[in-house]
Amino acid sequence: MSNELAEFIRAIPKAELHIHIEGSLEPALIFALAQRNGIALAYSSVEALRAAYAFTNLQSFLDIYYAGASVLITEQDFHDMAWAYFERAHADHVIHAELFFDPQTHTERGVDIGVVIRGLKRACDAARTQFGLRARLILCFLRHLSEAEAIATLDAAKPYLADIIGVGLDSSELGHPPEKFTRVFAMARELGLHVVAHAGEEGPPEYIWSALDVLQVERIDHGVRSIQDERLMQRLIASGMALTVCPLSNIKLCVFQQLGEHNLKRMLERGVRVTINSDDPAYFGGYLNENYLETAAALDLDRDQIIQLARNSIEAAFTTTSERRADLDTLAAYCMKA
Ligand code: HPA
Ligand code: ZN
Repeated sequence: MSNELAEFIRAIPKAELHIHIEGSLEPALIFALAQRNGIALAYSSVEALRAAYAFTNLQSFLDIYYAGASVLITEQDFHDMAWAYFERAHADHVIHAELFFDPQTHTERGVDIGVVIRGLKRACDAARTQFGLRARLILCFLRHLSEAEAIATLDAAKPYLADIIGVGLDSSELGHPPEKFTRVFAMARELGLHVVAHAGEEGPPEYIWSALDVLQVERIDHGVRSIQDERLMQRLIASGMALTVCPLSNIKLCVFQQLGEHNLKRMLERGVRVTINSDDPAYFGGYLNENYLETAAALDLDRDQIIQLARNSIEAAFTTTSERRADLDTLAAYCMKA
């Protein structure tokens, strides 16, 4: 790739729609928070922890990801984690970010959901004032737990609904199809929340169908297995359904063996509204710009395709009409001069 295209990619205004904020916890911050909170870790050093980041599938990652999140105790911890992400995102020219968070990972350990949300919200507000970066929160239900537990989590979040833009569904996909969460998603929609779900990362196209038809999601997180089902592809294209694709995550979790085999470009060229995202950047080897740059290099994406990806991210965001128009104007102004 030319230096010119790389520079264009680095500075293009973009939105990030698939980032688990607990997945932005860098090893150094995990150790600092463990020390601050007097928590013993199973790893003796930052290097030893990093050495454990060799994953074979989603579950092998989740086991380490949940262990890393165990150092988060206070409101300040949640703030500091999100703030570190916003510094990175701002450097990558992210103008809008929607952060997934997993309250059940914390409430299970006795941390109040209010502590989690207040800490994250304070960092979101600071990102807006200090960086002009607009940030919103999406509460994710852990799909390996029961629907009753998801409903209890939604109930516990009710005092904070003004601080949450939507709900999502994450954690172990296989064996936990979207329809397991039919009722809680209906409740969330009834509350006026946006709804998204991870589907088709490791799970089959049937999970994408049920996320669409049963949960009535507005975006699919991952969704890379859509390409195995032509009727589903037609549905995604006709409806303009966005996929929040995470290329480096897919390589680290062995969804594809190499970036050069990734189907992002094929889906983009078929007219699917594909976006690029980092998923769990502290674990998967890169923040948003590394995902764009490495994918562009491996798949030989051109300038127009990069613009399309950035535009897709802005169009698929949960923003108001005037916010979306402003972000598209920012993008257009950048493309005119760059
Ligand atoms: N998939 C499912 N659950 C997750 C992921 C993911 O990529 N990252 C964090 N939780
Ligand atoms: Zn994810």
